[in-house]
Amino acid sequence: MITYREANPFDLPVFVSLDKALFPYSPWSPAQYKEEFSSPTRHFVVALDEDQSIVGYAGVFAPGGAEADVLTVGVIPEHRGRGIAKALMALITDWAITRGSIAMMLEVKTDNIEAIAMYESLGYSQLNIRKDYFGSGLDALVMRRDLP
Ligand SMILES: CC(C)(COP(=O)(O)OP(=O)(O)OC[C@H]1O[C@@H](n2cnc3c(N)ncnc32)[C@H](O)[C@@H]1OP(=O)(O)O)[C@@H](O)C(=O)NCCC(=O)NCCS
Repeated sequence: MITYREANPFDLPVFVSLDKALFPYSPWSPAQYKEEFSSPTRHFVVALDEDQSIVGYAGVFAPGGAEADVLTVGVIPEHRGRGIAKALMALITDWAITRGSIAMMLEVKTDNIEAIAMYESLGYSQLNIRKDYFGSGLDALVMRRDLP
């Protein structure tokens, strides 16, 4: 059974190593994660397997009263296709709503078919393209979902 909880500073090394595997084009450094984890406008959650190992994670920036930004969402390949990412997205979206956010925004690499399909199934629409957002030649699709 998969369980979910808020991330804590002890999870930081796992976020860093999973980032390298899942986002080789834009991994965050330990220093970046340390700063993000300590910010009251950010919220990170993890999915755990039966052994309490982290198999997925997500994070959101919600300054309150404005758009929230999905910072990251990832699930290790062995656990994909079972609704874990959707559950993680629901948790960070609920948190953004409690912060008074008016919409969820995100940037996704334009060739990331699986993620774009997931965001569309969650009600996100395509806004525009940001050239070279993830580095030279790596464009991002900006997506948005209004919140109730
Ligand atoms: C994108 C990712 C997070 C999806 O994780 P997941 O746990 O497999 O996703 P879920 O099982 O919750 O599926 C959510 C939706 O994604 C879509 N989806 C997932 N895998 C898909 C695939 N292989 N092909 C097409 N659509 C897919 C579907 O719409 C699915 O909803 P449905 O099952 O109701 O149809 C995962 O593939 C991943 O970690 N990829 C690498 C990191 C990444 O690119 N993250 C997004 C960065 S913006």
